[in-house]
This record gives sequence, C-alpha cells and structure tokens, in this order.
Amino acid sequence: MSRKRVAILISGRGSNMSALIEAARAEDYPAEIVLVISNRPEAAGLARAQASGIATAIVDHTRFGSDRAAFERALNTELQAYRVDLVCLAGFMRILTPWFVGRWSGRMLNIHPALLPQFKGLDTHRRALAAGVKQHGATVHFVVPEMDSGPIVAQDWVPVLEGDTEQTLARRVLEVEHRLYPQALRAVAEGRATPIASAAGKSAG
Ligand code: GAR
Repeated sequence: MSRKRVAILISGRGSNMSALIEAARAEDYPAEIVLVISNRPEAAGLARAQASGIATAIVDHTRFGSDRAAFERALNTELQAYRVDLVCLAGFMRILTPWFVGRWSGRMLNIHPALLPQFKGLDTHRRALAAGVKQHGATVHFVVPEMDSGPIVAQDWVPVLEGDTEQTLARRVLEVEHRLYPQALRAVAEGRATPIASAAGKSAG
C-alpha cells in the first residue's frame, strides 16, 4: 500500500510537527510528510521542517485581510499542488470555515491539549488548573466545523500534580502529545481509525 501524503499546518514552534516528521522517517510508517504550511512567516517550525528536508510554504493570513475564503483557497491550492491525502493541524491557530473543513472532511486531524470534550478553545492548562481536575491530557480528533468537536481518534491523560503550574502541566501534556499524534496519524493512514469515546471525567482518583 502506498504511503499517504500528509501536510502539516502550523502557526508556531512546531514540536508536534517534529514528532510527526520523526515518526514518518520509519520505513514501515504508513504516511510521509510532504509539506509543512505556516500561516505565520516567523513560525519557528518552518526552519525545523526545512532542516528535516521537508518542503515548506507560507500562506500568511494577514495578506488576505478579513477574506477567510481567499486565505483558505490559497491553502487549498498548496495542498492540491502537493497531492496531499491527509492534513494534520499542529498548533495551527486559525479557525477554518465549513467550506475548507468540508473539503477535507474525514481527512483532517487536529491535536488539542486537553481531554476533549473538556476545555475546548484556548488556555487549556490554566483552565484545567483553575477547575481543579485531577487528570488532564491531549486529544487527536477529526476536524469538523464546530471547533474542537470532531470524532476522537486518540486520547491520553496525565495526572495533575500538587504544585503544578501552567508550565509544568503543559510540559507533561506535551510529552503525551508527541507520542499520541504519530499513533493517531498511523491509525488514520492505515484506515483503522474508529472514533473512541472520551475518557474525560472517567476517574482514576
Ligand atoms: C500544542 O500544545 C497543541 O496541542 C496546541 O498548541 C501547541 C502547539 O505546540 N494546539 C492548540 O491549542 C490548538 N487549539 P507545537 O507548535 O510545539 O506543536
């Protein structure tokens, strides 16, 4: 079976992107990373991708003003040019319209730093600490028009420890993310991803 051609969309640091690139180096990995696109020209992840020999593109959303459709058409043009099969959002901080999401329906994944459906949106670690949850984690899900809401492909949790700060908790969750995303992409690329029920709220203490 030929490997799925994957594009990763980033806005910043790109550590999840790097984890996917690293995983895809393995010969038996069912996907190859063919393109990294950033909506921010200054994203640190771009240099990381280039250092790994991956093609990069910048589609700067500020060039399109408030015209989201034009921005997304430009994204889509890049994805088509590279004959992309699957899209992975990895710290991509733009909300996508139903048109773009529909275009990639069932073929676009996102990683979110929380146990969805808990803590959709931003500042998940701060909100998890404020809520006093005992477990926190990360989720990979298919993207649907409603933000952070699509069918869950993979999820894993970490304990929230006494004395945790946003930074210590973020670090612990990020380790999970780097493990989880490559596993989830593998499952989707092999066509064996089945939506799982969220573990959020299930207890281990
Ligand atoms: C990651 O923690 C990712 O889960 C989160 O942004 C970070 C990006 O880090 N994504 C979101 O919050 C999406 N709503 P990275 O650029 O090092 O992968």
